[in-house]
Amino acid sequence: MTPVSEATPVTKLTERIGRIQPSATMAVVAEADKLRQQGVDVVDLSVGEPHFATPQHIKDAAIAAIHANFTKYTAAAGTAELRDAIVHRHNMDFDSDYRREEAVVSVGGKHVLFNAIQVLVEHGDEVILPVPYWVSFKDIVQYAGGKCVFLETDEAQGFRVTAEMIARQVTPRTKMIILNSPSNPSGAVMTPEDQTAVAKLAAERGIWVLSDECYVYLNYTGRQFSLGSVPECRERLVIAGSLSKTYSMTGWRMGYSLAPTAVSSAMAKLQSQSTSNPTSIAQKAAVEALKGPQTCVDEMREEYIRLRDHMVKGLRSIPGIKCNKPEGAFYVYPNISAFFGRGGVKSAAEFAGKLLREAHVATVPGEGFGTQEHIRVSYATSMQELDRGLERIRKFTASL
Ligand SMILES: Cc1ncc(COP(=O)(O)O)c(C=O)c1O
Repeated sequence: MTPVSEATPVTKLTERIGRIQPSATMAVVAEADKLRQQGVDVVDLSVGEPHFATPQHIKDAAIAAIHANFTKYTAAAGTAELRDAIVHRHNMDFDSDYRREEAVVSVGGKHVLFNAIQVLVEHGDEVILPVPYWVSFKDIVQYAGGKCVFLETDEAQGFRVTAEMIARQVTPRTKMIILNSPSNPSGAVMTPEDQTAVAKLAAERGIWVLSDECYVYLNYTGRQFSLGSVPECRERLVIAGSLSKTYSMTGWRMGYSLAPTAVSSAMAKLQSQSTSNPTSIAQKAAVEALKGPQTCVDEMREEYIRLRDHMVKGLRSIPGIKCNKPEGAFYVYPNISAFFGRGGVKSAAEFAGKLLREAHVATVPGEGFGTQEHIRVSYATSMQELDRGLERIRKFTASL
């Protein structure tokens, strides 16, 4: 039989699909899965999602929606009920005054980012992206034809981003600045003052700020802040929100944008020609999440703080590992460059690869986030798993 590769002509795909890569985090998940299928006991510290179950009252709302036959198309931008719930929660929590027309419900926060960038970034436009960055920002900008301008930050300063640093990168082609506080992967939190200064600078120069606030409720500083609370920045601001992390709802795919009406309408139009509405059932669950008791959010936040403290203490006790104490999200981003040149390890990718293959701990190498000397370690798991992971990392690094 003729091998398929000889019989099939080379498939010609679009130029734009060639501009993006599969997510670096997904690659680790696939390799860890392969090991698991071979019966290996892997400690997985690579995951980007909460380990908690979705709270019961939220699940019950979805089940009730099914029983009530709330199973048909809704408006593409989401139901009025959910858009109202989104703006109400935001207005209450952050002292803002968004209206329904400024909210669009999308299929997860990632979909919001995709829509916003498609609607605002033209071919050749520059987008300022602080490093380390969450992997998908870069690819979504590139898919739109935009050019990422990477803003290096200093680990010793907690990866701080200031308006002065941004100002140095602005050119006549700058269209957008992407902020992500708390940050994936570093867990760094920008102060409200720094965020506001960046947004004011952007507003003055007619530059958009895309503020990815999907971890906004996982802020451990005690100063929870959304840029949406600063009226003078709102004209050039798109907030990408998500229920995924806040309510442990990653699989439900519930995200939302808050943006000026012209941008919101354009994002809804794009969505109407791609996904149509997000799932009707998940929308009912989201209404309950946003309007129901918020104690689940507080409880999860408390637990993340406990896990973070344990993880940071554990990692700092391992000779050679340097680790900032993150103030939000559920990742730590330790510097492992002290091991370069030992045991054949020359890069973060090699360190993480060897750690997975030899010590069976899954983490994500920093290269995917734009830095060369770090690995991302998620602590969204049980205390026991953290201890097992820490013990293996300790033994592994000692063996290098
Ligand atoms: C910074 C950041 N933004 C957006 C997302 C997307 O989350 P979702 O699409 O599940 O809302 C993630 C998920 O890991 C993230 O880390």
